[in-house]
Amino acid sequence: MTKTAIISKEQLDSQFAFCAQIKAFWQGQSITPTAYVETYGCQQNEADSENIRGLLIECGYAITDSAEGADVVVMNTCAIREHAEQRVFGNLGALTHTKRRHGRQKIFLCGCMAGQEVVVNRIKASYPHVDGVFSTHHLWQFPEILSRVLFTGKRTYFTADEPGSIAEGLPHSRDSKLKAWVSIMYGCNNFCTYCIVPYVRGRERSRKWEDILSECKQLIESGIKDITLLGQNVNSYGKDLDQGVDFADLLAKIAELPGDFIIRFMTSHPRDASNKLFDTMARYPKIAKQLHLPFQSGSSRVLKAMNRHYDRETYLEKVRYAKSVMPDLVLTSDVIVGFPGETEEEFEETISLIEQVHYDSLFTFIFSPRPGTPAYTMEDPTPKEEKNRRFDKLCAVQNGISEQLHNAYIGKTLRCLIDGTDKEFLTARTEGGRLVRLVGDPSLIGTFAPITITGATTWSLTGELTEKD
Ligand code: SAH
Ligand code: SF4
Ligand code: F3S
Repeated sequence: MTKTAIISKEQLDSQFAFCAQIKAFWQGQSITPTAYVETYGCQQNEADSENIRGLLIECGYAITDSAEGADVVVMNTCAIREHAEQRVFGNLGALTHTKRRHGRQKIFLCGCMAGQEVVVNRIKASYPHVDGVFSTHHLWQFPEILSRVLFTGKRTYFTADEPGSIAEGLPHSRDSKLKAWVSIMYGCNNFCTYCIVPYVRGRERSRKWEDILSECKQLIESGIKDITLLGQNVNSYGKDLDQGVDFADLLAKIAELPGDFIIRFMTSHPRDASNKLFDTMARYPKIAKQLHLPFQSGSSRVLKAMNRHYDRETYLEKVRYAKSVMPDLVLTSDVIVGFPGETEEEFEETISLIEQVHYDSLFTFIFSPRPGTPAYTMEDPTPKEEKNRRFDKLCAVQNGISEQLHNAYIGKTLRCLIDGTDKEFLTARTEGGRLVRLVGDPSLIGTFAPITITGATTWSLTGELTEKD
């Protein structure tokens, strides 16, 4: 049974009518208005910003890269940690000046922060220069919000909490001609005790596989070479639909499309990462041998308190299997130190896990209490300085591992996508997503080529083009 609310064609058409109205308004004054979209947070927000830009272009706006002088400024925000929110509030404050210098500037705040009532109330009370606020559930209604603000001058809030819906057919404005994000699902049902995402992005809902496949097909035909499938937990793809296609099946369908491209995905929740998924990855050359598999903690007790639904041993078992079928697998992960009540021994279990697994790289975080989540009220006796010490130790151990793994690349020949330039060098990405700098002709940009790695630092590799055999 399909439970997800689908935004109908009529509903979307009514939004496109608002776009036409706004476009005509500006054309009537012979003005080409400009818009700036600033994105915080994860790839999901980047993908949403592509839709917001697409809608703005539909409304006649030209996209600029600065808030200064822009007719519309959209802040697409992240709520994952307190620091992320503080940055937004700081930057939002600074927009009072850009608005003063450009009287007709309209300012909007959207994204995950806009899904929190406390944030919306704070904007209402203390940021009068913000003209509109809309949560991720209301993104597809942005043309309507913009039109209300433009034509009535009233501050507008589309922030009602909802389980979430799916809107197919929104326009995209993608920055890169070679790489694309494709959201395959939205929301999250996992309710990890530290995490705000399920509260601000609603319940898990999957797009139909036919819609995803046809979007990928179009992207590949338009020259896209590197597709990243997005979802907070891609491994539970399809569970809310009755289409009999799980994530591994979806991957296989995309990998069977004709063309020269590579496909990757994030994020995988370890609980639902199956051997079927790893076998599918191993089988298809077009699926990158790269896996982002956040473990969060090496301690089974902490994992339970986090509501992660796996323990240290099951996690390690999955990694063992994945590596056995993909010996060159590039593994990355997320980890939190200083979860409430984490002891020194439990922290050491995290260190021992990273030493055992040998991740290519890690995204490391200090626990940040998020109001409204269960962990917010958990007893947390560990002092900040102690958490900082653990964090520094974790980073130092990981840097050593990353460097060691990077050095092991030297001498290897890897198939890379040449994707741009950096000063006098070409840049390329390995299948595992590592940056490689090399000397070569810019006409190679957009092609896959074998590159032999000649040098390594913690963060990047250098290499040279190798003749295809
Ligand atoms: N859905 C993804 C993660 C999305 S958030 C997954 O489950 O893997 C990205 C990362 O931010 C998380 O993996 C976690 O490591 C970190 N994170 C989330 N909430 C946090 C918090 N309150 N404090 C610190 N780090 C947090
Ligand atoms: Fe947050 Fe957990 Fe969902 Fe990831 S799986 S978004 S960490 S609740
Ligand atoms: Fe941040 Fe929302 Fe992503 S909280 S990490 S932008 S899902």
